[in-house]
Amino acid sequence: MSDANRVLIFDTTLRDGEQSPGATMSHAEKLEIASLLDEMGVDIIEAGFPIASEGDFNAVSEIAKAAQNATICGLARANTKDIDRCWEAVKHAKSPRIHTFIGTSPLHRQIPNLTQDEMADRIHETVTHARNLCDNVQWSPMDATRTEFDYLCRVIEIAIKAGATTINIPDTVGYTAPRESAELIRRLIAEVPGGEDVVFATHCHNDLGMATANSLAAVEAGARQIECTINGLGERAGNTALEEVVMAVKTRHDIMPFTTGIDTTKIMHISRRVATVSGFAVQPNKAIVGKNAFAHESGIHQDGMLKNPENFEIMRPEDVGLSATNLVMGKHSGRAALRSKLAELGYEMGDNQLKDIFVRFKELADRKKEVFDDDLVALMREASADPAAEYLKVKFLRVICGTEAPQSADITLTVDGVDQQATAQGDGPVDATFNAVKALYPHNARLQLYQVHAVTEGTDAQATVTVRMEEDGVLATGESADTDTVVASAKAYVTALNRLRVRKEKLGGKDTREVSYKDAG
Ligand code: KIV
Ligand code: ZN
Repeated sequence: MSDANRVLIFDTTLRDGEQSPGATMSHAEKLEIASLLDEMGVDIIEAGFPIASEGDFNAVSEIAKAAQNATICGLARANTKDIDRCWEAVKHAKSPRIHTFIGTSPLHRQIPNLTQDEMADRIHETVTHARNLCDNVQWSPMDATRTEFDYLCRVIEIAIKAGATTINIPDTVGYTAPRESAELIRRLIAEVPGGEDVVFATHCHNDLGMATANSLAAVEAGARQIECTINGLGERAGNTALEEVVMAVKTRHDIMPFTTGIDTTKIMHISRRVATVSGFAVQPNKAIVGKNAFAHESGIHQDGMLKNPENFEIMRPEDVGLSATNLVMGKHSGRAALRSKLAELGYEMGDNQLKDIFVRFKELADRKKEVFDDDLVALMREASADPAAEYLKVKFLRVICGTEAPQSADITLTVDGVDQQATAQGDGPVDATFNAVKALYPHNARLQLYQVHAVTEGTDAQATVTVRMEEDGVLATGESADTDTVVASAKAYVTALNRLRVRKEKLGGKDTREVSYKDAG
């Protein structure tokens, strides 16, 4: 296989993904996701938008220092202040990249109110400035797919001459379609002077459900970098999903003879982590990473499948990191079995950590006859909660519910180390529980999302509850799993409040971002 067919994977989960409302991740979570991306073989990690806030700057610079393999990229609008700040953050990386952009379509040109000529000058100045700082410069004409073709060629030529090494073609509003996506890339490579000397990238959004198809069509036409996010996380309908494009070229190598550097067996683990830390659950029928994507995972044993998995499977579950066996664990399972099962699920751990997990596992196995892979994943999520953020902790909960109103909750919370008790009524046991928490920890946060998912099948299944809270523009998500849905709800609610408290403290009451990449540069 020639190198000419190697497609670079540029992951923007931590920038375009994280900028989707409600998906805000904590500093520690961003570092963890970046390290998983680095380990799985992502070529370029867009770690954030350094000028946006102190938090973004610190995350990008720490990710840059920690990355072992990937190029670390930061986003900057078309002005020297943004570009300098971006460089300050990424310069620590073994391989840094500055990504600068400006909206070039007629509509986007109105935002900074520049004429075509003025914008062309701005592109020349800013790309030159970026290239003077860094050898690796990516330039994007935002809303490229709605930009006049001649003007697009003109500004790309300017960016290449000013030193851009990668030209990204964003379909910012998810407007294009596969044939058009391919045609645009083909013509740009052929018609822009210097086009053959740079890497063309494709950056698609999924508003019409065509992001994966548009990205692959662009690659067939000559693009050699795909910009994408884990689980397709992103604003509105999201971005191109990394797992979809990577598995598409792997599975249909016969008609798409391209390669990526991704270790696909790491896909499931990172997908689950991104779902947890972003609070954006993966829909069950989502391609590749949905709970039902591999039918036998959800317990549907079809006769044909049993005779020959290839009857229904085009990919093997192991290839995306799902264990082939789904070996059921129970209360008689020992520590060694737990260790090997967790390793299979992507969790390597030292003896002390295993000791703690084993205690939690035994508690769960006492309440549940069979502990499935998904139960263990939920348990690991619980265990990875940041203890430093445990200002509030659920110690005791009893609810009265049923057909006769009023439903009530009696709760004991540890608030900053001190146990406090309250009883409250509500419209159902969950509402009563949240009211009781509010009585002990008065707050003005608004409940934005309350979601319950059964982790596995059966009436003893664990429920995973996700709660998203918002106060003064700051968002925080909490998640918890328990065989008791109300307990899981109380814990998720309290986790969200803890995180909100930490975030608000860090920001001194300010919003998570002082500027957005949509502000005129
Ligand atoms: O969608 C988009 O246009 C972007 C750019 C900033 C590259 O995310
Ligand atoms: Zn985008």
